[in-house]
Amino acid sequence: MAAKLKLSPLIAFILLAGMAGMSRAGNIAVYWGQNGKEGTLADACNSGLYAYVMIAFLSTFGNGQTPVLNLAGHCNPRSGGCTGISSYIQTCQSRNIKVLLSLGGGSGSYGLSSKDDARSVADYLWKNFLGGSSSSRPLGSAVLDGIDFDIENGKSAHYDELATFLSQHSSQGKKVILTAAPQCPYPDASLGPALKTGLFDNVWVQFYNNPRASCQYASGDDRNLLRAWRTWTSSVKAGSFYLGLPASPDAARSGGYIPPGDLTSKVLPGVKAAASNYGGIMVWNRYYDVQNNYSGQVKGSV
Ligand SMILES: *[C@@H]1O[C@H](CO)[C@@H](O)[C@H](O)[C@H]1NC(C)=O
Repeated sequence: MAAKLKLSPLIAFILLAGMAGMSRAGNIAVYWGQNGKEGTLADACNSGLYAYVMIAFLSTFGNGQTPVLNLAGHCNPRSGGCTGISSYIQTCQSRNIKVLLSLGGGSGSYGLSSKDDARSVADYLWKNFLGGSSSSRPLGSAVLDGIDFDIENGKSAHYDELATFLSQHSSQGKKVILTAAPQCPYPDASLGPALKTGLFDNVWVQFYNNPRASCQYASGDDRNLLRAWRTWTSSVKAGSFYLGLPASPDAARSGGYIPPGDLTSKVLPGVKAAASNYGGIMVWNRYYDVQNNYSGQVKGSV
């Protein structure tokens, strides 16, 4: 009994010291699913590089359509061929990595036509990917940790309602994590209204394939990036913000690649100093990260 009483303050001290250290270190989030040659979801998680993996994409949904997953060369969801990913999701979760389903993407057929449409998409996601049940879960029985909004088609209507409906499921046991990937020009044309709900846990802002003059890093100059970063992190209420980056020059044909040395020595110190709600970096995508070992090179400084 006496020994226990002596240990408690020590344990408390260790825990507090550990938490203080953790709050300073950032995480890496990555998109997986858009290249069959990037390795499995389990490979991505077993690399030890990531805290979040977004399965990309649910590229067809809304407007009354039956939602369809697109995982490029990995598997064919139309024939139930992606259910094997279920065990990989569990592998990731056993490593304390959060696995999310990403809605949208750069191409696809998606949009929400009404509040009822948002409600039915939320119900579909709950039953087919989250804690609900359905006889035709595209990724099998594993329960994903949340939903990522990567809406890029400029149609913003009803995503605020979708976020609200999804968040209401958090009361049924496990929390439904909500994340979003807006473009760096502020406010975002597609996600602006949704982000105003304040319901998002993590926001990974895409600092690539966007205009240099408004927000993107280019050849040593981080002023535009920092200006946009300050605007995002001070204007939107969210749990934390991530700097969204291409993992290689090929990952973003319209620019925004930051060489690892520039990121760690120049950009990240400014980004961290500018925002106490800094969470880390988001990397597009796992395929290019394997090719370029981007996360491996910068992880120690994130
Ligand atoms: C990636 O880079 C890190 C840091 O330089 C290095 O330790 C690691 O071995 C590299 N990984 C691969 C697969 O090349």
